[in-house]
Amino acid sequence: MAGIMDTVSNLINKITGPAEEVPREPSADEFKHLQKKYTDAGQGQVFAFVDELETVDKSRLYHQLSTFDVTRINELADRALNPPKTEETAATLEPLPASATASIIDSDPTDLKNWYNAGLKEVADNKVAVVLMAGGQGTRLGSSAPKGCFDIGLLSEKSLFQLQAERIVKLQELANQAHGTQSAVIPWYVMTSGPTRKPTEEFFEKNKFFGLSKENVFIFEQGVLPCISNDGKIIMESKSKVAVAPDGNGGIYQAIVTSGVREDMRKRGIQHIHAYCVDNCLVKVADPVFIGFSASKKVDIATKVVRKRDAAESVGLILQKNGKPDVVEYSEIDQATAEAKDPKDPELLKFRAANIVNHYYSFSFFESIENWMHKLPHHVARKKIPHVDPESGEAVKPTSPNGVKLEQFVFDVFPMTPLEKFACIEVRREDEFSPLKNAAGTGQDDPDTSRADIMKQGQRWIEAAGGIVVTEGDKFGVEVSPLISYGGENLEFLQGREIKAPAIIEKEED
Ligand code: UTP
Repeated sequence: MAGIMDTVSNLINKITGPAEEVPREPSADEFKHLQKKYTDAGQGQVFAFVDELETVDKSRLYHQLSTFDVTRINELADRALNPPKTEETAATLEPLPASATASIIDSDPTDLKNWYNAGLKEVADNKVAVVLMAGGQGTRLGSSAPKGCFDIGLLSEKSLFQLQAERIVKLQELANQAHGTQSAVIPWYVMTSGPTRKPTEEFFEKNKFFGLSKENVFIFEQGVLPCISNDGKIIMESKSKVAVAPDGNGGIYQAIVTSGVREDMRKRGIQHIHAYCVDNCLVKVADPVFIGFSASKKVDIATKVVRKRDAAESVGLILQKNGKPDVVEYSEIDQATAEAKDPKDPELLKFRAANIVNHYYSFSFFESIENWMHKLPHHVARKKIPHVDPESGEAVKPTSPNGVKLEQFVFDVFPMTPLEKFACIEVRREDEFSPLKNAAGTGQDDPDTSRADIMKQGQRWIEAAGGIVVTEGDKFGVEVSPLISYGGENLEFLQGREIKAPAIIEKEED
């Protein structure tokens, strides 16, 4: 197994120090050896401009190229660009078995309460950790800063990172109150990538870790892989630098092993892990109901889903495919399957479990990563990749996709999990899922929809607690600080109070 780990680790370009550090100059022999390796592998073009490079740039190129196993890159690129032809047998799709699923919408309130209490106890006992996937480049949003730093226009001007951090702070407090403890800690492991690491670290430092203790926030970095041209050649960003991209959110599994995250979890005695995406402003970080539900099922992996809006909504579905848990993209199912009704309730779609990338993992499952990590496939994302023309040396900004980024998907591990070790819970979309994908003005999954969903949720919470929210024209909503309420609790002090929307509740005396 160590062999596999070494090979895979070699693929990862771990950027361990500031980019501008002066690297050790390789000897002529070392350089020649590396050049031969790449040339023999048909990737000699990466040295096209080597004779023009200053010594320091030549050293940088040497060190960057040394971090990749060129033979393995060729294999990955070949498999991704020319996927093996599989027999076209129709897959058998079925919803997950009832024994593996539950729904917040129609569960017995006693079950929900029991799961919540059990989950909160695990938090109080310091057994719960959170892993945030924040290594994406957020190209559709178009912000130069990492997505987590984005201010969605709330009255408080809080960033996505801050909202999530404050939910952790509040949940620790709730666990302490419920169990008479004083030191509940939910360690937060923030996965970044080459492009997002430094700005993320700086943002956390600048904001004093949003009230969390610095030693309980672990910022780590996923791997990168070279970008590949449509004919399988490694693309050069400049004369001395390979164009690289993060290896997808499935890079999380490799990264938690190589970065020391798993070791840190082991030392802390973590048993349950909640992993989620940075762009969901409604995410219930370390949700006790989810932890309690998953722990009670004794599964390796559990997922949260929301109800698919209608047969045409373009979302991935969580289901069983050929008897294994899986995610099937909307483009992969035919219309009849998309429109099929639930035989038990014809009001509902048969396949309605929409994937929101909110996962539970048992720590024991993380212990098995080395057994299956190398089986995760690489997918092709066709992109416009700025590069240097290998003939002329001119910088080129392509207007159409000229190559591919190789990415692993976090859910590709599902089919490797036995059905009885997998569970799924349906949650309310309006309470738990509002992703930020697009730039302002798009009208869908953009900063305006994120802000509106937070404001509407706050208004619902206050009304449920007996407060009166006065709306007028397009003025609606109340922003409730996560430091006041994690999930709608603790708002009784607003009973009978009139609040003019849009408003913000930041302190109990507000
Ligand atoms: P998306 O696939 O939506 O990508 O990521 P993105 O980077 O946010 O946005 P686009 O596609 O460039 O516009 C879903 C989640 O997976 C994380 C993202 O940070 C986000 O939380 N992710 C994605 C990673 O952590 N690493 C990656 O390599 C890719």
